[in-house]
Amino acid sequence: MNNFTFYSPTYFVFGKDTEKEAGHYVKRFGGSKVLIHYGGGSVVRSGLLDRVKNSLQQESVPFIELGGVQPNPRSGLVYQGIELCRKEGVDFILAVGGGSAIDSAKAIAAGARYEGDFWDFYEGKPVTDALKVGTVLTIAAAGSEGSGDSVITKEEGMLKRGAGGEALRPVFSILNPELTQTLPAYQTAAGATDIMAHVFERYFTNTKEVEITDRLCEAVLLTMIKEVPRVIADPNNYEARANIMWAGMVAHNNLVGVGRDQDWSSHGIEHELSALYDVAHGAGLAVIFPAWMTYVMKHDVNRFAQLAVRVWGCQMNFMNPEETALEGIERLKQFLSSIGMPINFRELGAKEEDIPLMVEKLGLGETGTMGNFVKLTGKDVEQIYRLAL
Ligand code: NZQ
Ligand code: ZN
Repeated sequence: MNNFTFYSPTYFVFGKDTEKEAGHYVKRFGGSKVLIHYGGGSVVRSGLLDRVKNSLQQESVPFIELGGVQPNPRSGLVYQGIELCRKEGVDFILAVGGGSAIDSAKAIAAGARYEGDFWDFYEGKPVTDALKVGTVLTIAAAGSEGSGDSVITKEEGMLKRGAGGEALRPVFSILNPELTQTLPAYQTAAGATDIMAHVFERYFTNTKEVEITDRLCEAVLLTMIKEVPRVIADPNNYEARANIMWAGMVAHNNLVGVGRDQDWSSHGIEHELSALYDVAHGAGLAVIFPAWMTYVMKHDVNRFAQLAVRVWGCQMNFMNPEETALEGIERLKQFLSSIGMPINFRELGAKEEDIPLMVEKLGLGETGTMGNFVKLTGKDVEQIYRLAL
């Protein structure tokens, strides 16, 4: 196991009706003027936004609003939010929605405290200072409610990039699984795929002797395999929704990833798909992950076979572990298909002729690489896109 530090200071408030406590927690964490930030309208239609506003009013916390965050959130609205926060003296941003609203809120929070262009953070500058962010989560997916990351797309060139820093971790996150019951099945499945992908990015490591985090990763995956079909069959299944919602947080606040090298190339490869076609991030991952796994499997067949046996219940073929490993990848594809996810370019609506552009946008050039489990060159990435056709 590698040396590590782990500090995850978000205060989680989990369960039914908890959104009514939003005002209480904003006050408790020192918010005196709030920007409520939300997406394209699901929180208006469901009445959630009104409940959150009432709760702020009850605590006499003044607020302003900025809606309209698109899935795969854009820089344009972030600039608007930064201006608004400065003009109105906002000191706390409350994101009400999914990963997109939360990531946009984090970008505004970092930008409002920075004199330069907030995009600097998405080109590698670590975020060390930001306004406080709280969240009321409406979809189990990105894990942004507990992470120190934010992913934004810059309209100019449609560049989708991530920023990171401990200052971006929300000070509190309200997780009411009931709020996820209004999700369309496709969004539920895309979110679930993202959660599983956050585990895979950590599971495929070259670090030895990481039994505890291996087992934690497997627990999250087993939970998802059990619970996702239950919510697809019955969207109102509260208990299954609750398990998935907490799995989404556990998968990405790095509890299951400490002390081990992590990969993250599949996320980078996927971000080009969601940047170009504006598809759900999880749907893009359903296409990329099986292809990536197939491409890199030979690097450590035993790790893939271990996953196949422990998570997918495959029989270990000791004479030919590669067969077991491949069976595991096949089971993943079947699972993703069964929950309604696309598993290739055609099903996603992506085009073969765009592959060179996507590879180029990754900016690896002739010599650059991405990922850790296997360091991938631009040529490798091209092969992975082709395997996903
Ligand atoms: O915009 P509204 O109207 O709210 O609709 C949203 C949106 O269309 C809808 N939705 C959300 N909750 C709902 C609902 N509809 C009905 N009922 C509800 N309860 O679902 C759609 C997707 O929402 P979005 O916020 O985009 O989903 P998600 O949480 O999957 O976030 C995706 C974004 O997060 C980034 C992705 O790249 C993508 O941009 N990621 C962020 C990470 C992080 N910050 O740590 C890590 C991830 O790997 C990921 O890259
Ligand atoms: Zn993700």
